[in-house]
Amino acid sequence: MTTASPFPQDFLWGVASAGHQVEGNNVNSDTWFLEHLPGSMFSEPSGDAVDHYHRYREDIALIASLGFTSYRFSVEWARIEPEEGLFSTAELDHYRRMLEACHEHGLVPVVTFHHFTSPRWLLALGGWEGSRTAELFARYCDRVMTHLGDLIGVACTLNEPNLPWLLESFGIGGEAPENRGSVPVWAAAAQRLGVDASTVAPFQFCSTEAGFEVKLAAHRAATAAIKARRPELLVGWTLANSDIQSIEGGQEIADRVRRNVNERFLEASRGDDFVGIQTYGRTVYGPDGHEPAPDGAETNQMGEEIYPQALEVTIREAHRIAGIPVMVTENGLATEDDTQRVGYLRTAVDGVASCIADGIAVRGYIAWTAFDNYEWVFGYGPKFGLIAVDRETQERIPKESAHWLGGRAREFAAQAVREPAAQLA
Ligand code: BGC
Repeated sequence: MTTASPFPQDFLWGVASAGHQVEGNNVNSDTWFLEHLPGSMFSEPSGDAVDHYHRYREDIALIASLGFTSYRFSVEWARIEPEEGLFSTAELDHYRRMLEACHEHGLVPVVTFHHFTSPRWLLALGGWEGSRTAELFARYCDRVMTHLGDLIGVACTLNEPNLPWLLESFGIGGEAPENRGSVPVWAAAAQRLGVDASTVAPFQFCSTEAGFEVKLAAHRAATAAIKARRPELLVGWTLANSDIQSIEGGQEIADRVRRNVNERFLEASRGDDFVGIQTYGRTVYGPDGHEPAPDGAETNQMGEEIYPQALEVTIREAHRIAGIPVMVTENGLATEDDTQRVGYLRTAVDGVASCIADGIAVRGYIAWTAFDNYEWVFGYGPKFGLIAVDRETQERIPKESAHWLGGRAREFAAQAVREPAAQLA
């Protein structure tokens, strides 16, 4: 007798990427601009990345051949609208071909409309504190929907709008507008853009209240624009979730971070079709703030504790606070040791199964990330990929973890067809 799969029949098993991290030469974006400034916080430029822009066909075929049923990727605002109000049909056609390739290979495309990067011109208009940003973002989303909407499987508006508040609690970024001019990189950005440094507010680095309001308004306006074209399409945003904990004396700080990073964004998700959960580990606070990994703990390539059980905790938290279905849109580990990654993924997937067994509506598990890629300020050092890439030859080499997770996807999908799991509420 076979055991029924804990996963519902239409559960998505996928891998994720983000345009700027894999495509290469995203030259009209604010991030490319920041990468090339004196004093840049980016350790190296993104350059050609893994040339996914040209190699998407073989990449999508490879992902499908491994057993996955979904591919999450982002469309790049800076390519589609390289100058304010100038939309590129050729670039929209490029993403249409990507979507068609997903459908040809049986992958449900989960499309992120904004994954950290914005057009450089937006930065000169006040970036993610700008008074017109929500409206401009919604106009771009409408163009994307007009051109691509019929092929999109699931829509994610903004990726990790809450990340800057988590980074700020680690002492990264978070300068008040009036202090930005004294930070060399912001001063250089302002000078080149011809604006006052107080207005330089890129998506990943601005943690002001104005930034919170603009992101919330942008998410709402984008959702309305997407729904106006396809009311039945599932739309949500994807959040950076951490299992926030404290040691003695750290409770007050932990409570504040939990409120700013997790709770208020989950509360704001109520009414959406789903919320994307992106969890990598736990974050522990003591009386002096963020605590390093405990002595003797296994750590990832960034020196953070490896803690895969955080995913289950954050799914339960999202379910409790947002009260809507959850989709794991990112989860993964930066390591050169792929056996360690398999162990991490196994614990994480077990956590998802346990949530589903308790009646929580989890719609999918999408691992971060398809390919070793450009890990933002850390450059190409950290290896989150399930597929390795030789950046000299651009050869793709699936790792054990890709075969393991793709294999689980195949196995669970087959079980779900044989013995359909009860429909989740
Ligand atoms: C982001 C990804 C990033 C990953 C690993 C998330 O914050 O959405 O773009 O590469 O975490 O750090």
